[in-house]
Amino acid sequence: RSIVFATSEAAPYSKTGGLGDVCGSLPIALAARGHRVMVVSPRYVNGGPLDKNCAAAIDLNCRIKIPCFGGLHEVSFFHEYRAGVDWVFVDHPSYHRPGNPYGDINGAYGDNQFRFTLLCHAACEAPLVLPLGGFTYGEKCVFLANDWHAGLVPVLLAAKYRPYGVYKDARSILVIHNLAHQGVEAGITYKNLGLPLEWYGALGWVFPTWARLHALDTGEAVNILKGAVVTADRILTVSEGYSWEITTPEGGYGLNELLFSRKSVLNGITNGIDADEWDPSSDKLIDFQYSIDDLSGKVKCKTALQKELGLPVRPDCPMIGFVGRLDYQKGTDLIQSAMPDLMRDDVQFVMLGSGDPETEKWMRASESAYKEKFRGWVGFDVPISHKITAGCDILLMPSRFEPCGLNQLYAMRYGTVPVVHCTGGLRDTVENFDPFANNGSGQGTGWTFSPLVKESMLGALRYAIETYREHKTSWEGLMKRGMERDYSWDKAASQYEQVFEWAFFDQPYIK
Ligand code: ADP
Ligand code: GLC
Repeated sequence: RSIVFATSEAAPYSKTGGLGDVCGSLPIALAARGHRVMVVSPRYVNGGPLDKNCAAAIDLNCRIKIPCFGGLHEVSFFHEYRAGVDWVFVDHPSYHRPGNPYGDINGAYGDNQFRFTLLCHAACEAPLVLPLGGFTYGEKCVFLANDWHAGLVPVLLAAKYRPYGVYKDARSILVIHNLAHQGVEAGITYKNLGLPLEWYGALGWVFPTWARLHALDTGEAVNILKGAVVTADRILTVSEGYSWEITTPEGGYGLNELLFSRKSVLNGITNGIDADEWDPSSDKLIDFQYSIDDLSGKVKCKTALQKELGLPVRPDCPMIGFVGRLDYQKGTDLIQSAMPDLMRDDVQFVMLGSGDPETEKWMRASESAYKEKFRGWVGFDVPISHKITAGCDILLMPSRFEPCGLNQLYAMRYGTVPVVHCTGGLRDTVENFDPFANNGSGQGTGWTFSPLVKESMLGALRYAIETYREHKTSWEGLMKRGMERDYSWDKAASQYEQVFEWAFFDQPYIK
């Protein structure tokens, strides 16, 4: 098949979270299975940490003018062929900004709707106009539109192309990585999107009560993700559990009823991981390599990490890690409230993350409050994330909701035992420890605690710490069962293929 990913991030070119990881590695897995795969993302030229970008990509000298936002906006395309995949970068001056691709210290960029509208139009044109490897992808492709940034792709197919006989034989799949972000703007901005007026209803959205309570607005809005949910031929989430959660009022962020109505085309496929980047036996970013057959390197990674962080070098002291965006989603407030209690125990805690400024401040303050026990590394740093994953004994993820979560998968592959809130993809991928199962040889790969309150999180952490200290055989069992699991993309890639077949078998939603 010809597959076109539309995404705002693709690692290693751009990444702020798991979306970048997935759109950087799933395409390669699909290409390895014989598909022709193109990934269309913005050409962020920013001089910042995300700027590994496109250095090797060449200008295809193909320019198109996109009709939106009251004019014609010219974009061009850059291209790199790597690992069997056509990486296509859409170039426009609005992508040339330092730092994070979505915003700066003043919050989200005011023109994100414009920037990602351009991306979606360009992604729809790319298969038709780009002669990659000598010929175009053509009209028969499957579009994978990832999150709201790419949400206009299915809408454009339905509203702009198919009525004119173009892309009749294409299919669109919306992949929801995070329903909390929907691309909502005032209703008046609809006219900017380059869509026919009569399609307003697909995107038009009256703010539901929860949004009003948050004082967002009281009036009518356009919601790009909603438009994608309405028009996509199929909908996927990044774990099975999450595909159910989003049809409930608790997890649906105002779209639950609509998603429920589309249940017949809604599935969940649990993410895989890039098994080459995240392999403790060959990882160059960690100080000592190790494997399930020889774990001796792991404790050396721990002492190297302690040294690097300036913590007391103590191979036997349980070390807990956290890596992630400092965001309400990730439950970092719970970590904060539990810290005074936890710091009374004989443990070390290292936290890597960036995001909410108040949490960053708290991390810095906690370093001085708990000099011998706590380190807060503020920033986005991939090498350190590998060192923490390898060096810690326990990885903590008290996420409020988690569509899939990749860090727990990385942790298990590195023999680091996850302690997670029992939700979404965490619930699907971490099996709760049971020391008595299997005639006493034990079962499970970590701890899944619930409800999401400080007490239950501390309870699970202390159970883990106690097991680490007092029950070495159980601990080794936990580590090894985690390391043995198959997290490669192959299984998920074959499930994606199944969904492509369903999409082509079904009639398109809009004829
Ligand atoms: P999400 O996509 O919600 O942020 P995931 O667990 O799916 O959560 O993926 C997060 C990805 O981003 C992982 O690869 C993780 O290692 C990485 N990451 C998050 N924060 C940082 C950071 N501060 N430094 C380095 N990598 C980070
Ligand atoms: C999102 C989710 C995360 C998921 C990632 C990749 O950012 O928050 O749970 O793992 O996308 O699909």
